[in-house]
Amino acid sequence: MGSVLVERDGPAGVITVNRPKALNAMNSEVLQDLRAAVAELRDDDAVRGIILTGAGEKAFIAGADIAQMASMTPLEAAEFARLGQEAARDLERCPKPVIAAINGYALGGGCELALACDLRLASPNARIGQPEVALGIPPGWGGTQRLTRLLGRAVASHIIFSGTPLTAERALEIGLVNAVHPQEGLLDEAKAFVAQIAKNAPVAVALAKEAILAAHEADLDAGLQREAELFALAFSTDDQKEGMKAFLAKREPTFKGR
Ligand code: CAA
Repeated sequence: MGSVLVERDGPAGVITVNRPKALNAMNSEVLQDLRAAVAELRDDDAVRGIILTGAGEKAFIAGADIAQMASMTPLEAAEFARLGQEAARDLERCPKPVIAAINGYALGGGCELALACDLRLASPNARIGQPEVALGIPPGWGGTQRLTRLLGRAVASHIIFSGTPLTAERALEIGLVNAVHPQEGLLDEAKAFVAQIAKNAPVAVALAKEAILAAHEADLDAGLQREAELFALAFSTDDQKEGMKAFLAKREPTFKGR
């Protein structure tokens, strides 16, 4: 798995796309490796949050591999789009929070993978956007859907039609990223957030993630219905009993993840 590195630091699982010579551009093999890395950390009970980042100081992920795409047939392009979409879906559907640590260029497919994460932290050198139309294609790994849902049609249209990447500062202003941190401290900030998450009840966090996702994907009535079901489900866990008992006894809770 040389193109994608997996490391653990306490409760944080860190996935680093490791193709710095190509600014971490993603071909089919790298996408498969990313999917395997997400599955590995998803299934590791010690991991409470996943951080996605890119190797080197220049790029998060500079997009889908243009060299691979250049000679694709339409059928191959459909398959490539589906593979990228599935990799994004893995990040989105993972029951653990996934944080994009955008340490540089997040373009095209790189922006799209970051959008599938629960939240995004960026360094000041980050450039984030969807430049596909300059290559003669529209976005293909979910950008038209997730940017529009996250930021609204007008903002998404501006980003996608112009093809011009946003600075980290502008991305922060419009809510595309949650925060901007100096590059050297970016990963530590992401890890600190995972440490904060790790203090909370694991099942409750997973249920909350599923409910938040429903807000993105369902109409309001269906989303509220799902929220109520997930809320009720938490009452089947020991952690709900422990969390509330501890509050009432004015002590810290000890969660077991069940
Ligand atoms: N695919 C393949 N190779 C890429 C790449 C990509 N997306 N992005 C960068 N590279 C390669 C370059 O070809 C170059 O390789 P060589 O050294 O072998 O020439 C190397 O990475 C370094 O890149 P540059 O020399 O271009 O670096 P720079 O600092 O001058 O420019 C950049 C940086 C502005 C990010 C520029 O590399 C660039 O514009 N990259 C393409 C960005 C892009 O268009 N991404 C969207 C791809 S389409 C897509 O993702 C479709 C989708 O929706 C799924």
